[in-house]
Amino acid sequence: MMKLRSVGIIGTGKYVPERVLTNAELETMVETNDEWIVSRTGIRERHIAAPNQATSDLAYEAAVQALKSAGLAAEDLELIIVATVTPDMTFPSTACILQEKLGAKKAAAFDLSAACSGFVYSLATAKGFIQTGMYNNALIIGADALSRITDYTDRNTCVLFGDGAGAVVVGEVPEGRGFLSFDLGAEGAGGELLKLEGGGSRCPASEETVRDGKHFIYMNGREVFKFAVRVMGTATEEVLRKAGKDKSEIDLFVPHQANIRIIQSAMQRLDLPEEKCVINVDKYANTSAASIPLALVEAVEEGRVKEGDTLLLVGFGGGLTWGASVLVW
Ligand SMILES: CC(C)(COP(=O)(O)OP(=O)(O)OC[C@H]1O[C@@H](n2cnc3c(N)ncnc32)[C@H](O)[C@@H]1OP(=O)(O)O)[C@@H](O)C(=O)NCCC(=O)NCCS
Repeated sequence: MMKLRSVGIIGTGKYVPERVLTNAELETMVETNDEWIVSRTGIRERHIAAPNQATSDLAYEAAVQALKSAGLAAEDLELIIVATVTPDMTFPSTACILQEKLGAKKAAAFDLSAACSGFVYSLATAKGFIQTGMYNNALIIGADALSRITDYTDRNTCVLFGDGAGAVVVGEVPEGRGFLSFDLGAEGAGGELLKLEGGGSRCPASEETVRDGKHFIYMNGREVFKFAVRVMGTATEEVLRKAGKDKSEIDLFVPHQANIRIIQSAMQRLDLPEEKCVINVDKYANTSAASIPLALVEAVEEGRVKEGDTLLLVGFGGGLTWGASVLVW
């Protein structure tokens, strides 16, 4: 049998737009208050894309940094995957728009739609391509501009979301390093709990869809919360089992940053102290596909990740979907 290569992360980058939207400012927009938002979600502020910034612009900034840190020229890139639910447009894909911006002429390029789990789904996809030798490297970007699909008159959702991008370059690494396991899953039956209906082929854009707010995120917060707590538990157990690791061996836990209470319930289940967990939901809120790479890259930049460390990434989101990975840095 063909020997499979070990695949891991060889470069990182991140970007958040300049504009900060604080809880205090949201208090002037909807009936809410800082105390409610902080105690229920852990969020204090979020970054919002400028009017002329689309998702590919956020992705570009993170991608340039990731390529630089990997020491890889854009022309040598072989695959680009952008995980997003807020593409620049329906088509061409945001990955193709980014390929042109980067000048990555040799790279195949496509978007991957798995909402907040999209980054982990994309890592698994890239690993498959690289370990079998089909490609030698891939640029994976989680990028979303959720502010573009958020209804800023709906207090149930508008306090939760922000914009940003995180990028990694994936390539061959020494044996024993890199991705040890993945656990990806979906529960399509829960799709109705978190969705954006308008503008697709079932419900094309019309005056009526705009009037009915169908181009904004709809979410059943309580049910999504229950799903999140459940799958954060089951996915982390399963991905650790597949990696042959015990929860005590986790050096750094990098969860999807949606709500501090969901993160804390996962930490308790894994018996993890706070210093082993990356938390930046207070600064960025939920940035969907960008959330896990923003947390990971920030931890790397802060010197919290050492060679040989065991990391556990886990996320959940619309679909409904979840994705987890254990990797050795
Ligand atoms: C949305 C979420 C923060 C709400 O927290 P909660 O503790 O479950 O709150 P509830 O839904 O029970 O609502 C409590 C009350 O607060 C109110 N409320 C909602 N948003 C509010 C806001 N921004 N400010 C003040 N009050 C608010 C609700 O209207 C409700 O009032 P009611 O009881 O009079 O109807 C929480 O359910 C959550 O985080 N869900 C998961 C969301 C998520 O992760 N989504 C992304 C998945 S990738």
